[in-house]
Amino acid sequence: MKIHNFSPGPAVIPPSVLAEAADSLKEYQGTGMSFAEMSHRSPKIMAVIEEATDLVKELLSLTPDFEVIWMTGGASAQLAIAPMNLVNPQQAIAVVDTGYWATKAIKAAAQICKVHVLGSSKETNYDRIPKNWALPRGTQYFHVVSNETIDGNQYHEYPSVKVPLVADMTSDFLTKPLPLDKFGVIFASAQKNFGLAGTTCVIVRKDMLDRKVKRTIPHIFDYKTHVSTQSLYHTAATFPIYVSMLTLRWTKAQGGLAEMQRHNNEKATLLYDEIDRNALFTASIVKEDRSTMNACFRINQPELEQSFLDFAEQNGVVGIKGFPTVGDFRASMYNAMPLESVQILVDLMREFEQKIN
Ligand SMILES: Cc1ncc(COP(=O)(O)O)c(C=O)c1O
Repeated sequence: MKIHNFSPGPAVIPPSVLAEAADSLKEYQGTGMSFAEMSHRSPKIMAVIEEATDLVKELLSLTPDFEVIWMTGGASAQLAIAPMNLVNPQQAIAVVDTGYWATKAIKAAAQICKVHVLGSSKETNYDRIPKNWALPRGTQYFHVVSNETIDGNQYHEYPSVKVPLVADMTSDFLTKPLPLDKFGVIFASAQKNFGLAGTTCVIVRKDMLDRKVKRTIPHIFDYKTHVSTQSLYHTAATFPIYVSMLTLRWTKAQGGLAEMQRHNNEKATLLYDEIDRNALFTASIVKEDRSTMNACFRINQPELEQSFLDFAEQNGVVGIKGFPTVGDFRASMYNAMPLESVQILVDLMREFEQKIN
């Protein structure tokens, strides 16, 4: 049976990428060695890191004002590393509490600097992105969770503020073109839209590196360390970066970010239209803030929740159970998710509706 993997991440990977990665794990380019056995400083591996970096720059049309580095520790580490690099202890950043990942960002940054929480939709289960707020004077940057993976809301237009955005794009990086002039830092773990768990792509605008921060930043956490060593200060996550490179090549071959956006919108429209049509289901998020990546929805008769999950799984649809603290359903539809899989889920929702009526 064909499996349709709606997991929130690690998530579906293009089959051609998986096939090439599997071959390279056995033997890489006639070297007699597995890719995983080769030194991160060998010319072949350095070429992979360079190509991955160049592809990120090309796909996003980054100007020379930006550096691209590959780090470890996930986006979770970046929630601390970004304020550590950019803000003095007595200075403040601003965050709008849009959900689980904004809350994590607030907690992480609060150990390092001051944090203005400008608004929160917690009271309504993060069913929207708060929009009526004012940025306090002196704010050093605005942390934005581009897409709340767990709660299912997404910025479709980024805030226009006088300070740089530092964006956690872990669940929607490379899924659409970006208004680059708004961003000072963008970071994303790879395991949703561009590869495996184990590497985090970080884009830093060069002037952000010149901020004079009055603290000792350990070398390993200093953006400048990784920029000046082309991400080779320590053993780079060679195989994850390789799979990212293959996925970036695939993204380019599909038509780049404009095509990713078109395809993602098509999938999201198909699913949300069914959620709105089908009297059994309700979307968790207000229309204008719904995520194209993670569609959160519930069944109106909670006693049927497990039956629907079982029915979906029996038909090859896996990974739609919501996050433990949120419950309900969440269908994650990253770049590599084919339209066909979303159609199957929609067909099953219709069939289930008929079955119980
Ligand atoms: C929006 C967002 N930010 C941060 C993270 C944390 O990423 P990692 O687990 O790679 O540290 C995740 C993981 O799912 C995420 O979805």
